[in-house]
Amino acid sequence: MYVKRLMLKNFRCYEELDVELSPHINIIHGKNAQGKTNLLEAVYYCATGRSHRTSYDKECIRYDQSEAMIKIWYEKYKEEQLEIHIRKNGRKSIAVNGYPARRINELFGCFQVVLFSPEDLSLIKSGPAKRRKFMDMEICQVDPVYLYQLQQYSKVLRQRNQLLKEIAKKAATKDTIFAWDEQLVSYGVKIMERRRQFTEQLRQYTSRIHRQITHEEETLSITYENNVPIAASDFQRKLEEDLARDIRFGSTASGPHHDDLAMWINGADVRVYGSQGQQRTTALSMKLAELSMMKEETKYSPVLLLDDVMSELDQERQWHLAQYIQENQTILTCTGIEDSIRRLPAGKVLEVRKGKIV
Ligand SMILES: Nc1ncnc2c1ncn2[C@@H]1O[C@H](COP(=O)(O)OP(=O)(O)O)[C@@H](O)[C@H]1O
Ligand SMILES: [Mg+2]
Repeated sequence: MYVKRLMLKNFRCYEELDVELSPHINIIHGKNAQGKTNLLEAVYYCATGRSHRTSYDKECIRYDQSEAMIKIWYEKYKEEQLEIHIRKNGRKSIAVNGYPARRINELFGCFQVVLFSPEDLSLIKSGPAKRRKFMDMEICQVDPVYLYQLQQYSKVLRQRNQLLKEIAKKAATKDTIFAWDEQLVSYGVKIMERRRQFTEQLRQYTSRIHRQITHEEETLSITYENNVPIAASDFQRKLEEDLARDIRFGSTASGPHHDDLAMWINGADVRVYGSQGQQRTTALSMKLAELSMMKEETKYSPVLLLDDVMSELDQERQWHLAQYIQENQTILTCTGIEDSIRRLPAGKVLEVRKGKIV
């Protein structure tokens, strides 16, 4: 799969952009704050219906404008097209091949990307929320039903937490909570089952890739740390046990909204004991695994977006990444074209200056 053409209107610093891309390697270079990441953000948005940088869509709209547009033409087995309008009033619209989508879910499964940015290098040492997001965004791209379950789960969770607060104020009675618990458990179990399945697949891919990168010196294992047991009856019981505490704090202590992923190198927890090098290699292995998994699930090679990561990696890791770059359409940003990038067989080299391609 590859992007043929990208068009932007009032997206971030781009007033207007219309650019054709190579199906192979595209190098976008330019000084800081010129719009390189914004360009990748727009492509990422087409795959996930959201930005990787912000959860406030409004920030993507060019200052003083009321609407931003992203349009891409991409090739799968035939040419397809996506068009997204982001509006200041919060109304967002998506059209797939000219047909308006009723829900954002319809976007998933159309177009896939894997984005690797410097923040991903800290995936291991940051908090569990980042790792849950990693899991969720990957599963969503290949499984639209999962997104629905996540949305329902968070809705029920919000309502349950609201009710807990009302119970504490004696504005509601305890027995009203059970209807919410039932739904929370039902969606929660589905989410956990999907995450377990995803992690099992991720474990197999990452362990193979990690052994390659470290020349068989390190064994990496990724495990799913579900916050409650996956069986419905156990989750239900946990909610009942926690009820007094939940009412006191006005929040739900147990459930997949507190899940995590654990990474082990030669048996030690990388999150705690890993050196910076090990943490980076682990993050790289996870990203490369993501790429292979997505390809296997969808039968298409996703578009690889690399935001300024080459300079953050040592030569050995760059060399491993380069192999994947050559197998997928890649859009790579950098401030300077250093040797590691110069060696790549570029299909297109573009310079960005103040929101324009020069
Ligand atoms: N909503 C917006 N409207 C106009 N300009 C924006 C908006 N959001 C960010 N910018 C500008 O985009 C630039 C940052 O672009 P970015 O792609 O992150 O740079 P880089 O080339 O370093 O990756 C900054 O100059 C910033 O002021
Ligand atoms: Mg940038």
